[in-house]
Amino acid sequence: MEITFHELSVPASGHLAVMAGEDGALGASAKQIDRRASGALARALAAAGFKGKREEVRDVLAPAGGKLDRVLVVGTGKGKDFDRAAAEAFGGTVYAQLAKGTEEVCVLVDPVEGSRLKPAIAAARIAMGARLRAYRFDKYRTKEKKDAKPKLKRLKIYVADPAAAKRAFQPLSAVVDGVFFARDLVSEPANVIYPETFARQAKTLAKLGVEVEVLDERRMKTLGMGALLGVAQGSAHPPRLVVMRWRGARKRDAKPVCFIGKGVTFDTGGISIKPANNMWDMKWDMAGAGAVAGLMRALAGRKARANVIGVCAMVENMPSGTAQRPGDIVTSMSGQTIEVLNTDAEGRLILADALWYAQDRFKPRFMVNLATLTGAVIIALGHLHAGLFSNNDELSVRLTSAGKATGERLWRLPLDADYDKLIDSDAADMKNIGDGSAGSITGAQFIQRFANGVPWAHLDIAGTAWSKKDAPTVPKGATAFGVRLLDELVATHYEDA
Ligand code: BES
Ligand code: ZN
Ligand code: MN
Repeated sequence: MEITFHELSVPASGHLAVMAGEDGALGASAKQIDRRASGALARALAAAGFKGKREEVRDVLAPAGGKLDRVLVVGTGKGKDFDRAAAEAFGGTVYAQLAKGTEEVCVLVDPVEGSRLKPAIAAARIAMGARLRAYRFDKYRTKEKKDAKPKLKRLKIYVADPAAAKRAFQPLSAVVDGVFFARDLVSEPANVIYPETFARQAKTLAKLGVEVEVLDERRMKTLGMGALLGVAQGSAHPPRLVVMRWRGARKRDAKPVCFIGKGVTFDTGGISIKPANNMWDMKWDMAGAGAVAGLMRALAGRKARANVIGVCAMVENMPSGTAQRPGDIVTSMSGQTIEVLNTDAEGRLILADALWYAQDRFKPRFMVNLATLTGAVIIALGHLHAGLFSNNDELSVRLTSAGKATGERLWRLPLDADYDKLIDSDAADMKNIGDGSAGSITGAQFIQRFANGVPWAHLDIAGTAWSKKDAPTVPKGATAFGVRLLDELVATHYEDA
């Protein structure tokens, strides 16, 4: 889909999308169409009970008195609530409504009364929302009928300052590229994406200026990553640690910020094997790693002025004659020993070594890890918030507000020395499961032991990495949760002026 920006005017023909505010109050462009149609548009909307709420739509076909084929009226809601997320949702909604009907759509972006968003910025966000919604993972669908596929090729956005809108859209479009990269990686099945092929994909980021280094099993053995290697040892696919560096800060050696992703390309549970039903979902147990790779692509694509490290811990968790057994004791790179009582609590094991490695080698300002870590976080927060755990209030507040701004919402849950006791072991320094209570918190307590006091946050994205229904800017499937959130975090707090 090609997106272009044009001087605001009302085209005389074609498929249009226009704005209307709360109580169905027509935007300037819609009013003009209504006048040409001698009031037919307003009447059609009133007859259909249109209220102009956010994401509310009415399709008016061939209004009288002109050559227009179709006018899609989309609610912008209360003016003061028309923020960037609302504009993105607007764009996504327009795409979803019109993509199957025509090859070309014109979106008319009027000033929204009461909104703090300048029309040019709103237009850029609308374009972003449309692109985000347009994502499809259909490469394996060889028999889908042509009619079932979207046919929209050109999205033309009409706005008062098209040059400013185009400029504002550029970095946003790079973020969308990052989101798509992540969604592709996460959507691929585990016979296609495993540690080596994930690493190969990450290496393609070199063309954007990302330095990509891949640690193999031998190197990890030398480093003493016994926790990660223990998880990997049951699989025919060898593990990889993918290290990506983006040096965009003015000072190339300025302290970086660091993002770490859980990359279990398939989680059978290992010897503590999972039930057959829904096990297929575990192809997306690498969504944390996918988001980190997507984030690196977004940052490099928009040339973020920050030094950022991305680390992806890639393994496959399989049961086999070489798999680790419940009760095995492994020694992590930090020197701390772990009694592995449940081989299905593998995410924390690989993160233990990845976090230790990251802080040891890069001395980052902070570390944020993303992981589809626990089913328990879905019980606690459902699919609308990811769990946030942190040893640092400032980082926590910044992450939470980046979540509000992007719609990738976070909810902070507690860490506490008393919970920490749940993972003490009689045989080793710790065990990898608690007593079943506070499952997400014990997972976080475990990971915290490997942050070595560095400001750190853990995002448990088990409930938000994959979606079963369409949302305005997120079609069902892999969500790439974390890419927009962490891009926003970097953009607001960690870039040179
Ligand atoms: N990858 C799973 C968590 C998960 C569950 C992600 C559902 C997405 C959807 C993780 O490795 C796991 O198996 N966690 C266990 C931990 C338990 C053994 C302490 C769980 O949540 O049951
Ligand atoms: Zn897992
Ligand atoms: Mn597991």
